[in-house]
Amino acid sequence: MIVLGIETSCDETAAALVQDGKKILSTSVSTQIKLHQPYSGVVPELASRSHVLLVNRVIAEVIKGVPFKKIDAIAVTIGPGLMGSLLVGKMTAETLGYITGKPVIGVNHIEGHLISALLENESLKPPFLGLVVSGGHTELIYAKSWGEYYLIGKTRDDAAGEAFDKVAKMLKLGYPGGPIIDRLAKQGDPSKETFPRAWLPGTWDFSFSGLKTAVLYRLDDGRKLTKVRLSNLAASFQESVVDVLTEKTIQAARALKVKTIAVGGGVAANSALRKSLKDKAFSHNFKLFMASPTLCTDNAAMIASVGYFKFRSKKLMKMNSLKVQPQMHIRSYTGKLKSFKI
Ligand code: KG4
Ligand code: ZN
Repeated sequence: MIVLGIETSCDETAAALVQDGKKILSTSVSTQIKLHQPYSGVVPELASRSHVLLVNRVIAEVIKGVPFKKIDAIAVTIGPGLMGSLLVGKMTAETLGYITGKPVIGVNHIEGHLISALLENESLKPPFLGLVVSGGHTELIYAKSWGEYYLIGKTRDDAAGEAFDKVAKMLKLGYPGGPIIDRLAKQGDPSKETFPRAWLPGTWDFSFSGLKTAVLYRLDDGRKLTKVRLSNLAASFQESVVDVLTEKTIQAARALKVKTIAVGGGVAANSALRKSLKDKAFSHNFKLFMASPTLCTDNAAMIASVGYFKFRSKKLMKMNSLKVQPQMHIRSYTGKLKSFKI
């Protein structure tokens, strides 16, 4: 079964063809980074206008040479994300569905990140614990079976990626901040500028706004912002984020008694986080699945993949009405979990 995926929830316009939820046949991502760079963040109105200009182009690119009759369904992100941007994808998918008679499936963007590692490693199978860590979200999700997902914990304020972007802005490093801090941190010594970690004991939630404020206050200490100090600050900030993400993910997987961890979302492209998760997963005997960096950031292959699983499950199809939901979320886990101590 071939699904055409369409993704326009934030600042990437993307399309992809995916077979049986796992095999990428073609993919195209048009990023708007340059457009938003002068503002150090995504400007919603500019994003949606740009999606209008680009969406047909990325779709044409991925379906080139493939007759539409070979495509079984169209999957499109309906939330969470920016209202105007989501509407562009939804209207495009609905119009295509109307013209071609193909079913249109609305997809939760977070579910896309959750199962993105499957696109490169078919052996990923539920049950697993997912860490979705991006510019808009930081969530621990229990995947009980394909399509049955429960939220274990989430950020109470900033997403990890948002903290990376804002700290990079404070340090005048540019946008998006994540990849820049990642590179700079490699030259820094985290022990020279220590920052706090918000463990929020007894919960599986995260918090990154205090860390962001701690960086801001540190910049006010009157000391010169030399190149060396900049890289030390980047390394220390990054280490605080990575420590909390890694430790809480490992402890949540232990509490859930799952053997597998899957990681996705833009921040999962971070080299320090990848190393830390690999080391800890290895020492605790977990199987770790991480999408490669290009599939960690927003793309439409992961949306087509979720669409495939929804299409297979008629029950989920009925529940899913194509309505844009900027605040779309994953239902909370209600089972008992052992709390953790750090
Ligand atoms: O998943 P994504 O493309 O979009 C959202 O759904 O939010 O994630 C974008 C976020 C941005 O905040 C960006 O700074 C961050 O992912 N990011 C990184 C890295 N690459 C992208 N953060 C840390 N290290 C990276 N290498
Ligand atoms: Zn995303």
